[in-house]
Amino acid sequence: MAVIMQGKDLSKQITEIIAEEVKSLELKPTLAVIKVGNDAASSVYVRNKKNTAEKIGFNSILIELDENTTQEELEAQVDKLNNDVTVNAILVQLPLPKHINSNEIIEQILPIKDVDGFHPLNSGKLLAGIEPYSVACTPLGIIKLLEHYHIEVSGKNAVVIGRSNIVGKPISVLLLERNATVTICHSRTKNLQETVKQADIVVSAIGNPKFITAEFIKEGAVVIDVGINRLADGKLAGDVDYSSLESKASYITPVPGGVGPMTIAMLMSNTLRLYKIQRGEK
Ligand code: GUN
Repeated sequence: MAVIMQGKDLSKQITEIIAEEVKSLELKPTLAVIKVGNDAASSVYVRNKKNTAEKIGFNSILIELDENTTQEELEAQVDKLNNDVTVNAILVQLPLPKHINSNEIIEQILPIKDVDGFHPLNSGKLLAGIEPYSVACTPLGIIKLLEHYHIEVSGKNAVVIGRSNIVGKPISVLLLERNATVTICHSRTKNLQETVKQADIVVSAIGNPKFITAEFIKEGAVVIDVGINRLADGKLAGDVDYSSLESKASYITPVPGGVGPMTIAMLMSNTLRLYKIQRGEK
């Protein structure tokens, strides 16, 4: 039977340590989150982020903008947060409505306040092997999980399914940095099943419920499921058909309770890190 990687427990440990540290800080770190529109999943994620930030003693600012907000209006909001010295960390929840140019918004966030690590200065530094101000939260959370469970990455075949800037690309770089042999698969990949079957470590971030079945997975592989998919009955399911893999994988992350809570813990950790960097304490 696979070891279930309890992201929920690890994230609790991490946020408790942060909460303890926050008590001794001169000022409370401040995280500002901008959400545009009413995407149901984004609303849940943003609420979780805000609740966790407040629970651990951060200041939390939530700016909720109308679906029809223009590029200029959103840029004005980012600018305001950039110029507010009391704001340490800025997150613009993605995806943004189609009429907004997301890349321009991400580029507008000051790199030193970019808590997602999505600004090209931060993502570029990650790619170049230079320490960025912050590293994308979900990939960082996956690395923390692998470390916590003492899973060797060096020399392993890692297959990442999905090539997004949020998960696929940065996790591939982090695994490569740790000396894995990394393959990135995506919607145009031929022979997906055969490729994934070579993997010692699989990271799936495709957003397709229960797509990765036992036939894709080598006996004893480590399976990291980033998918959070809402089924017709309202339940959540990952990209991975968990029940068929529990006895085949060596380690597996559940959905919910695996990668999701780790993303939030890393957001808190990144916020604290930016606070310290801005104060010259790191
Ligand atoms: N949408 C899904 N995941 C993320 C994330 O980590 N950061 C932001 N800003 N938007 C997201």
